[in-house]
Amino acid sequence: MAIEETYNYKVVRQFAVVTIIWGIVGMLVGVLIAAQMAWPALNFDIPWLTFSRLRALHTNAVIFAFGGSALFATSYYVVQRTCHTRLYSAPLAAFTFWGWQLVIISAAITLPLGITTTKEYAELEWPIDILITLVWVTYAVVFFGTILKRKTPHIYVANWFFGGFILTVAVLHVINSAALPVSLFKSYSVYAGVQDAMVQWWYGHNAVGFFLTAGFLGIMYYFVPKQAERPVYSYRLSVVHFWALIFTYIWAGPHHLHYTALPDWTQSVGMVFSLILLAPSWGGMINGIMTLSGAWQKLRTDPVLRFLIVSVSFYGMSTFEGPMMAIKSVNALSHYTDWTIGHVHAGALGWVAMISIGAMYFLIPRLFGRKLYSLQLVEVHFWTATIGVALYIVSMWVAGVQQGLMWGAVNDDGTLTYSFIESVEAMHPYYIVRFLGGALFLTGMVVMAYNLWRTIAGAKPVVAAIPAPAH
Ligand code: HEM
Ligand code: HEM
Repeated sequence: MAIEETYNYKVVRQFAVVTIIWGIVGMLVGVLIAAQMAWPALNFDIPWLTFSRLRALHTNAVIFAFGGSALFATSYYVVQRTCHTRLYSAPLAAFTFWGWQLVIISAAITLPLGITTTKEYAELEWPIDILITLVWVTYAVVFFGTILKRKTPHIYVANWFFGGFILTVAVLHVINSAALPVSLFKSYSVYAGVQDAMVQWWYGHNAVGFFLTAGFLGIMYYFVPKQAERPVYSYRLSVVHFWALIFTYIWAGPHHLHYTALPDWTQSVGMVFSLILLAPSWGGMINGIMTLSGAWQKLRTDPVLRFLIVSVSFYGMSTFEGPMMAIKSVNALSHYTDWTIGHVHAGALGWVAMISIGAMYFLIPRLFGRKLYSLQLVEVHFWTATIGVALYIVSMWVAGVQQGLMWGAVNDDGTLTYSFIESVEAMHPYYIVRFLGGALFLTGMVVMAYNLWRTIAGAKPVVAAIPAPAH
């Protein structure tokens, strides 16, 4: 078979395998920092092991290494399969794989050393930022190049979500990372004061909206129908969902800066757009879940499908919670508390990690021409992950509300009822429960790695033929 008549599965396989590895590494660091919050002695007084440095390592590892690799793997797979064509340019695709791994390794070295811009989710210093830009532009060339040479008349909706994610992340990264270097490892943002905060949270919120949401919705629109063996519930709704979501997300960033020096009207714009965002988010969530209509019984026997559907339910939950937290009076209670951390992980573990896990269980056996080694182990994984997320987010909700109430409590004479340290002490039991939840989730990931290892050990990589165009 000529190479042009086959799909490029090599790069998909590479990204899929590292998704599992980086998932375990990133979550292991998450469990360690969760333990440090419960037992601070675990900082060991070693600078590169302290919470402050490892926290950024955790967020970068789970979002960009784990989530990013899952997005590369799935988008490269989906764009080829739905466009009936081979990925544009194997060398450029290979460059995105090795370039992205270099970004990850550089982050893993520089962040523990304390080299950071201090901008959340954009901590990496300027030389790494330049490498990210090169990889990302190449990603866009490979992805849109494949769309351009497609053999199908139509561009399937999952590709719209992947395309929107790729383009927006490019713009966000370049604008927010604009900086003046003063040495190889130090630069200063070109923005100052409240403008810097505004640009940072325009970036930060859309990193959530496009990196952690739009791309993963692309995954939902391909893998849920495939695994359920049903067409998308409403294709028209999926197109409305796409345009409404990307239009609305981009304005909601100021909800991260309530009660700050940011002009009040800007905060209100952020709040209103966050409330509007509930509608497209739920439109998409309902579309994903209803794809199962008429096939609900499959949930009983198929744990992979259960991962996918439960993830979409968590997406619905966190996109209900988010708009509520964006209301200024609610934010007055939730901001700076562990409630935010609970919300983050309802989205990050419940939605992002679970949908990636479901997609990898679908993808990896197919890329190696094998059947999954054990469905029972997937079942075990499903329950450890679900109980793990539940422990994590419930403990953080309770902790957050208690913190907010303790900080705000005043005596009749106007003095504070509790000192700050009393609120820290009160958090101890919740931090232990969160640690246990995280450890359970991580255990599930290790079970997954074992199951997939047994699935592919000794297997020959698949060479898949592209279907001939219909005449
Ligand atoms: C075993 C699983 C995990 C554990 C135990 C864990 C634990 C933690 C801890 C302890 C923090 C710091 C909280 C604080 O500063 O008070 C944190 C922050 C964070 N984690 Fe995780 N995490 C896990 C998985 C994930 C995943 C899979 C993602 C993303 C896909 C993620 C994204 C984040 C983000 C974005 C933050 C920063 C939140 C903020 O600044 O508000 N985590 N995590
Ligand atoms: C309609 C959708 C959503 C809205 C309106 C929303 C709104 C919010 C609000 C108001 C905050 C608290 C800001 C603060 O007080 O500092 C927040 C924090 C956060 N949300 Fe959401 N959220 C949504 C969905 C999601 C989803 C699906 C995820 C993850 C996949 C997510 C990840 C985060 C993260 C990482 C933060 C912490 C940012 C930080 O301070 O470091 N959000 N969100």
